[in-house]
Order: sequence, then C-alpha cells, then structure tokens
Amino acid sequence: MAQREFQHSGVRLNVEDRGSGAPIVLLHGFPLDHRMWQAQIDALAGHFRVVAPDLRGFGGSTLTDADIERGVSMEKYAADVVGLLDALEIAEPVVVVGFSMGGYAVWQLALRWPARLRGLVLCDTRAVADSDEARASRLKMAESAMQAGNSSPALGMLPKLVAPETYSDRPDIVDAVRAMIERQSAEAVAAAQRGMARREDVTGRLREITCPTLCIVGVEDAISTPQEMHQIATLLAETRSPDVRLVEVEAAGHMTPVENPSAVTEAIADFSRECYLSSGDF
Ligand code: MLT
Repeated sequence: MAQREFQHSGVRLNVEDRGSGAPIVLLHGFPLDHRMWQAQIDALAGHFRVVAPDLRGFGGSTLTDADIERGVSMEKYAADVVGLLDALEIAEPVVVVGFSMGGYAVWQLALRWPARLRGLVLCDTRAVADSDEARASRLKMAESAMQAGNSSPALGMLPKLVAPETYSDRPDIVDAVRAMIERQSAEAVAAAQRGMARREDVTGRLREITCPTLCIVGVEDAISTPQEMHQIATLLAETRSPDVRLVEVEAAGHMTPVENPSAVTEAIADFSRECYLSSGDF
C-alpha cells in the first residue's frame, strides 16, 4: 500500500497510489473516503496505476477554515485532482472514475480540464442540481454535524445508500459503510454539503463532453436511479454515440463498488483497457 501526502492550495491531500502503468483515478462519494474503492484498488493495481485520493476534508485530507464556512465547490474538488496529478507527475490524459459526489467533481474536471481526460466513468451519479428541498436538507445536515461535532447526522443516509436486500441481509457491508461514515469529521460533512448544495446543473452541458464515457448504475439505486443514469448516457451519446455505454449492476443499490465489487471492477478495467489501447498506450 502506498499512501502519499501532498500540500496543495492550503490543504494536505492524502492519496493511495498503487500499481504501475496506465493510470486510473478513483474519486469517492459522500460522506466516505478512498477506502470505499478498496476492492477495486486491490484488483486494478495488478494491471494499472491506481490513484485514489481522499477528497479535501475526508479521510486523511484536510480543509481550510473558508472551506468549512462556505463549502467546497465541485470545481475545487476537481482542481485538487488536477493538482494531485501534477504532484504525481502524471501529465498524460487519464481515465477518471467518479462515484456520486465524486461524479459531481468529474463533471467539472471534464468541462474545465478536458485535456487531462482520456475516459470518464460516471458511477451512480447525477447531472442535475438539487431541488430547493434537497438543498435545505443538506444545509440542515451541515448545521447538525457542526453542532454534534461529528458525522452522526449523516448516518441517516445509510438505508438509502444500499439496496433493501443489502440493508437487511448483508450486515458486513452495512457495518463497513457505517464505520466509514463515522470516521469522517463534522467539518468534512458540512463543507461537502454546503458545496453540493450550490453545485451547477450540468445537464445542458453534457454535449460539451467529448471523451469516451462509461456510466455504471446499481439496478436498485434510489439516489441516482437507473432511469436518471440512462438519461445521462443518452445526452452524452448525442455527441459521442459509439463511445458511450451504460452498465447496470445487479444486486446493488447506490453503493455498487461495495455491494457488487467484481462487476464494477470488471466494467472499469474493460473500459480503461479500451481507452488506453485505442491510443496505443496499453
Ligand atoms: C454520495 O453518495 O456521494 C451522495 O449520495 C451524493 C449526494 O448526497 O448527492
């Protein structure tokens, strides 16, 4: 295991950097850290260089006071990833995988730094912004976490993060996700919720994205539903029809990488291999 730390734009960024060869960057969701990708890191590192950072505030990465107060924008998470690639001396375009909130950051990466991308994987994520109700409940959770001094207000998300069968029959998975949420700080929860509450609706901008794209969704995802992810794939395909595909993952809700790890690993590996092979880099 290669944990590395870098100073970037006022914070410390922690990243797991494993394996060698063509790079795959894995961006975690909320309120989690890079360890949600453990199964994928272990499997993919035999064939690729896997770069799995803790986004600003989560896991071993830190925040500034302004981040906590104003929230971390999705653009800032994306800029951190670019800073990290520079620090790791990865100048070539890479495959980036974004899960849920990590996907919100990936949209910004694709729209602002398209030259850094060889392929995009959107895993259980959304293109729309929040409704007024969703925005209000995010801001409320941010306040509650700061008052509690821990991430406990986020534990209420747990039943919705996994499929109903996972929640009732697979306590090992539920316990692992719960433990990951409990490890995060109140500040990380507040900063991310305040940032997500004001994120852009990118639906109308998906046509600007021109690199090959894979969408992955759990068949029972109640947060970023299969129907919504099909719509994203359709919009992306308007400009890139041969290069956009969608994989539905069985036996999984929102947290496909943990609920059905081998299906997600295989989809990412196949897609990444094709992206790098088509440019002669694999
Ligand atoms: C996530 O899994 O990252 C969250 O569900 C994203 C969100 O709260 O919108």
